[in-house]
Amino acid sequence: MADIDPGLSLAAQRSRAAADMLRRMVAHAASRETDRADGALALSRDVYTSPNRFAAEREALFHRMPLVAGFSQDVPNHGDVMLFEAAGPSIIVGRGKDGEIRAFRNMCTHRAAKLLLGEEAACQRKPRLTCPFHAWTFDLEGKLIAQPGKAGFEGHPEGARNLLPVSAVEWNGIIFVQIEGEMDLEAHLGDFAPVLAMMELGTAEPVKRGHIDCAANWKYALDTYGEGYHFASLHPNNIGITHLSDVALFDPFGRHHRVSFPTKAMAALAELDYDQWPVTDYNGVHFLFPNTVIFVGAVEPGKTFVQLFRLFPSDVGQMRCQFAIYAPGGVRDAAHRAETEMGYDLTEQVVRTEDYAQSEQSFANLLAAPADFNVVLGSNEIALQRLHRNIADAIGMPL
Ligand code: FES
Ligand SMILES: [Fe+2]
Repeated sequence: MADIDPGLSLAAQRSRAAADMLRRMVAHAASRETDRADGALALSRDVYTSPNRFAAEREALFHRMPLVAGFSQDVPNHGDVMLFEAAGPSIIVGRGKDGEIRAFRNMCTHRAAKLLLGEEAACQRKPRLTCPFHAWTFDLEGKLIAQPGKAGFEGHPEGARNLLPVSAVEWNGIIFVQIEGEMDLEAHLGDFAPVLAMMELGTAEPVKRGHIDCAANWKYALDTYGEGYHFASLHPNNIGITHLSDVALFDPFGRHHRVSFPTKAMAALAELDYDQWPVTDYNGVHFLFPNTVIFVGAVEPGKTFVQLFRLFPSDVGQMRCQFAIYAPGGVRDAAHRAETEMGYDLTEQVVRTEDYAQSEQSFANLLAAPADFNVVLGSNEIALQRLHRNIADAIGMPL
């Protein structure tokens, strides 16, 4: 892609990137060519089925890397909190009275009771967190501010502890949490940072959220976001109608990447002069290593949406996708809200009944495969090849 010019406004950066990507998509659509890896890559079935690998992934990827907990507008006001517990330990993410985002173990420092209950990532208004067990109370800076029966704890070194902090950073509208260790977000994002910043996710208003479970290895389900090779065969009644199969742009940014899928209509644009092409909003499937997909799309020109998919394994063969849809710049009116909600419902249905249903069936079959069976990723499945190489690298276990 053309380099992002930091001198331009973010909106102008998006328009420029969209125009550049459209040119590339039209060329790909006209030639039916797709971005490719050098060759095919065989993957041992262990990549998806080994409990040892899974344990290493949980530790290296889900506990020691920055993970997306949500977007800024999920907890917009001072005193708003949300739960982030899909990655393992239960964590509270809150916006203090100074406006800063902080995260803590969702664990009372008296006898470890949970302070907050509820749905993952759903905003709750709680400027103070009072423990349901014996009513110790904390503010959103994590400070213990009330302690009934205080005399009983006086003089003990652990008798009046503040909450246990967890590394959290709010950056360009995205809230990152890292469960263990201190986060180095700049190093993690690398040259993907300007692409994410350009999307102005800080203005994205949450409209609808939920989750989709899948009885498959989390990477098997994640693979479905990285290739359009399956559009015609797996999605004949939706994406397969509108989009070309096996034609994609692939832009790597370190461990992260963006893929973009040309529509069938784009092939015809190659016949027209460039100045007759329609204006296209910036769009693309952004993969934020290790488990997050941010899909920016448009229902019609000027009417964009952002879909956030965060995939969390609970076991080697079971995962949950935390799915939410947002309206960039905020919801304009009731019709816009209804359209955005419909965008959630349609996508949820396709992902659940097609991508994840296929993942479950294939993964069950893979579990029963001969021990020396390999799956194979084609050169056209370049995003998947890189994903698996990068995960293998991050956990220190070769493919
Ligand atoms: S466990 Fe929280 S106040 Fe006792
Ligand atoms: Fe799909």
